[in-house]
Amino acid sequence: ANTDGDALRTPIVAVLGHVDHGKTTLLDRIRGSAVQEGEAGAITQHIGATAVPLETVSEMAGALVDPSDFDLPGLLFIDTPGHHSFSTLRARGGALADIAVLVVDVNDGFQPQTEEAIDILRRTGTPFVVAANKIDTTPGWNPQEDVPIQQSLEAQSDRAESRLNENLYELVGDLSDAGFSADFYWRVQDFQKNVGVVPLSAMTGEGVPDLLTVLMGLSQRYLKGEMAVDATGPGKGTVLEVKEERGFGATLDVVLYDGVIRIGETIVVGGQNEPIVTEVRALLQPRPNAEIRAEKRFETVEEVAAAAGVKIAAPDLDEAMAGAPVRVVRDRDVDEVVAEVREEL
Ligand code: GTP
Ligand code: NA
Ligand code: MG
Repeated sequence: ANTDGDALRTPIVAVLGHVDHGKTTLLDRIRGSAVQEGEAGAITQHIGATAVPLETVSEMAGALVDPSDFDLPGLLFIDTPGHHSFSTLRARGGALADIAVLVVDVNDGFQPQTEEAIDILRRTGTPFVVAANKIDTTPGWNPQEDVPIQQSLEAQSDRAESRLNENLYELVGDLSDAGFSADFYWRVQDFQKNVGVVPLSAMTGEGVPDLLTVLMGLSQRYLKGEMAVDATGPGKGTVLEVKEERGFGATLDVVLYDGVIRIGETIVVGGQNEPIVTEVRALLQPRPNAEIRAEKRFETVEEVAAAAGVKIAAPDLDEAMAGAPVRVVRDRDVDEVVAEVREEL
């Protein structure tokens, strides 16, 4: 448990990768949802955000994770589109990330947006793990629902296992060509030096316990210092979408990545012409494990602490822009914050 008494910030985990390699399906498996089935053309077209609490992580990870080893509140997953036309959204998702999961279809291997995602991670210096997805499509595979990967491998024929290994070694080779020394995650000692590859299936859930264990371990071990910083300062976020909501007019779906935002506070938001200065009327938080893109039953709350997805209702948001910064003014000079927002646009 957390001994220093400070609230630790929830780490932000971006999920990146080529179109249809299984990012949304993986998140559906983790949060027990079916967001992917509701997507037009089975294509993700916006950035998503889902708060997955520590209890969900440890339930899914089973014997691999002991929740008392962790004092992080959970993980905030950011889903991104893999379709080539959404490169701005991938870069935005990558910029928000503390750590990332690069999802690669183990049969398809490296594809153009896999390379693009790797470039984003390199540029932003974001530590990442690779989810080698769709292992259940290996010829002769004997599916094992939700079990750790070693247990699944024990149930496979030698032939199926060696077919999978061929694909995995190819992936390790592609990562090496991209400049990253990688290996099966269970052989990795130092996740800052080597990229861990986690074989899994978003469809059957096998290997997903391993991925969650690696993500919690990475966060706890390498991010704790960063997560303790400025936990109650004035909130900072990025607008995901500007949406009309019944009874509220234009609202903002925001990823709050730092600090706290409260009802009644003055905020500055990037707008199409000028930064918008307005006052928070309502804060609507998606339930735990709910994707902000799909949520219908937001909870009304007094304040929200980072990292979180939150819908902000306030007057005069019609000209707010996706991708724009949101800043809580608190005890600072409004003009100073307006200048800060203008600079970031
Ligand atoms: P974009 O967001 O559009 O880039 O796609 P995505 O990466 O989110 O992939 P998505 O979750 O939409 O999955 C694409 C297709 O692959 C869907 O038909 C999924 O059912 C299928 N799929 C995803 N993961 C697996 C898996 O582990 N095994 C199998 N057999 N199919 C999978
Ligand atoms: Na898709
Ligand atoms: Mg998707």
